[in-house]
Amino acid sequence: MTPGVRPLIAGNWKMHGTLASVRELAEGVAAGTAPGADLLVCPAFVHLSPVAAALQGKAVALGAQDCHANPKGAHTGDVSAPMLADLGASFVILGHSERRADHGETDAEVRAKAEAGLASKLTPVVCVGESEAQRLAGEAEEVVAGQLTGSLPDGFAAAGGVVAYEPVWAIGTGRTPTEEDIAAMHARIRAELEKRFGQAGSTLRILYGGSVKPGNAKAILALPHVDGALVGGASLVAADFLAIAAAA
Ligand code: 13P
Repeated sequence: MTPGVRPLIAGNWKMHGTLASVRELAEGVAAGTAPGADLLVCPAFVHLSPVAAALQGKAVALGAQDCHANPKGAHTGDVSAPMLADLGASFVILGHSERRADHGETDAEVRAKAEAGLASKLTPVVCVGESEAQRLAGEAEEVVAGQLTGSLPDGFAAAGGVVAYEPVWAIGTGRTPTEEDIAAMHARIRAELEKRFGQAGSTLRILYGGSVKPGNAKAILALPHVDGALVGGASLVAADFLAIAAAA
């Protein structure tokens, strides 16, 4: 944790759920308490409205998993940041490695999307992370530093933007980096944020993501500059998600 920074525990529901199951999941999360952390859930686009309804009046924020860089236009199948804000979203995950891999998203595109999010008063959660080959080659920190330079817009710090460090090889695999490696990467990300944004960079939240479970959350969340978690699989079970939040 970074002293004075309130942790954020975010659930990325990815392409999971039915109308009935996401309602139940949202209600389960909303029924819990997390005195030590802010909570955020990010369902698929089509589930934003019912989840917003289930979270009405509850202390759980709503986010989306992507947005288009343009506020409107002829972009069949895409969803704009103003549309997300209109449905009650206050966060948007951008540049997730699955988007970078499945849709070829570049740092420049992620940055443009983050700018669009900021223009609609959405807090961007910008994801960065190295592949296994890059880590084995000793390039992890340089890769992540480059992604930060390319993906973060200038207004990021002023808007309280969030960075999520998600090593690609740790996502959905049950494998995590060592605590030393997580701490080293988060320290590097902090240094990059301070270099770019000055004092404002010292309190931006840096989340860790990749196989976070109730059993490893406490150790990971206790590391310096780990200001929360971006949780995939374990966020699909309300009790597990809340157990991770309780560890913050
Ligand atoms: P898992 O927690 O399933 O490894 O997913 C992490 C992730 O990609 C969150 O965005």
